[in-house]
Amino acid sequence: MEIKQAIFISSAADFKKCPPPKYPEFAFIGRSNVGKSSLINMLTGKKELAKTSSTPGKTQLINHFLINQQWYLVDLPGYGYAKVSKIQREKWNKMMKGYLEQRETLQCIFILVDGRIPFQQSDHDMMTWMGLNDIPFVIVMTKADKVTQRELMQNIKGMKEVLKVEWETLPHIIITSSETKQGRDQLLEFIENCL
Ligand code: GTP
Ligand code: MG
Repeated sequence: MEIKQAIFISSAADFKKCPPPKYPEFAFIGRSNVGKSSLINMLTGKKELAKTSSTPGKTQLINHFLINQQWYLVDLPGYGYAKVSKIQREKWNKMMKGYLEQRETLQCIFILVDGRIPFQQSDHDMMTWMGLNDIPFVIVMTKADKVTQRELMQNIKGMKEVLKVEWETLPHIIITSSETKQGRDQLLEFIENCL
């Protein structure tokens, strides 16, 4: 798929304030700083469409981007950042739960996982929650340019071993880098097949 147009629509503090559910929707979720906003910019070819930062916690709201007047790409706030207060964490949980459970046009969630490090408990918890709530997701490994192929494969293997305990079939895994554009075609092809 070619991205001909990508427009920022709105930032919402909860799912009720999201734009009318007129288009199929794909959302990026993952730990703070994993590279959600960067991946949106890489996919759309617009460097500053979604705001990125080297400091975790940059994205705080549910951000909708309309692609080709046809589907929404959604940038979500990250989870798992140690410095976040309990109140903020609860706010995040409420906001995300509402969005993930009730946004009727959600086609698929991409859970972004940092390819540089071993599988994290917070990612595992997120995937378990999605499974319990019957929400389909795909795993997207990020920052592939920052890790050796060997380490990346080891991290993926470790993740699969953990997931195999709970899942009969493992989710689809796409390896990406926002720096080198690795995985761009695969991600767009996946989305195109869902439309
Ligand atoms: P929050 O909004 O805080 O949850 O973070 P995020 O998941 O949106 O991460 P963001 O895209 O802001 O990226 C965080 C940092 O990682 C930035 O400094 C990016 O430049 C860097 N980064 C993101 N993706 C990649 C990648 O594929 N390769 C490399 N080398 N750096 C990346
Ligand atoms: Mg972000």
